[in-house]
Amino acid sequence: MNRFLFSPKLLVRKNEIDSTNTFALDLIKNNNPSAGTVVLTLKQTKGRGQRSNFWESESGKNLTISAILKPEFLAISNQFQISMVISLGAIDYLQEYLTGVSIKWPNDIYVEDKKIAGILIEHSIMGTLLAYSICGIGLNVNQKIFTSDAPNPTSLTILTGKKFNLDEELFKLLECIEKRYFQLKDGGSELLKKDYLNSLYWKDGLHQFSDSKGVFEGKIAGITEFGQLRITTEQEERVYNFKEVSFVQ
Ligand code: BTN
Repeated sequence: MNRFLFSPKLLVRKNEIDSTNTFALDLIKNNNPSAGTVVLTLKQTKGRGQRSNFWESESGKNLTISAILKPEFLAISNQFQISMVISLGAIDYLQEYLTGVSIKWPNDIYVEDKKIAGILIEHSIMGTLLAYSICGIGLNVNQKIFTSDAPNPTSLTILTGKKFNLDEELFKLLECIEKRYFQLKDGGSELLKKDYLNSLYWKDGLHQFSDSKGVFEGKIAGITEFGQLRITTEQEERVYNFKEVSFVQ
């Protein structure tokens, strides 16, 4: 069976908008967009990040997109599986060019100790199921200089010394995400989780983390069924939601 999710026909191109995620949210409120609709802009004036309300991206240099999915087959409690789909799709794509690519929990994309992409996923629900997922991705492609205080940014061009065609990279990235999405839809959530855990930044060894009580040493033990991070210390296992724990570099 020839299935597809993304298609050039479902691409919404905008020269300048506040945020592709915000634009996608408006589409959902007003236009009932098809699954696989992708909003792309050259310039975001209010790009939103996970921890702050800001995402640095030089105009026309990078991919700033929001892919709209309709994962109506997923319970709200399984929403982290969408995060795994997008982050694994991003690293499958990057591994074509780079080594040392990993996912810093929950879904920052790293190359060694530098961040090359950020992901912001927002869901809407219908009863106990997901209705829409807006999957915002900021992938640094051709930007060479970063001026914000974002920690350790990097880009494809910095790491490879090459200049990339944004459209070509967009479709390669979407193809990787599509494969992971169908893997999930076809019942492959266990393999998805295994690949996610294998791709985690700091998955091996003892590292320093910090939480509301201070800095501590521990090992990443995995994630819970809801996607919370499990860290074992000498004394106990701790479980964290996003923003409750930081990685101390
Ligand atoms: C992070 O802070 O790591 C997440 C950054 C997500 C940025 C992308 S760029 C496209 C989409 N639109 C937004 O406003 N944010 C996301």
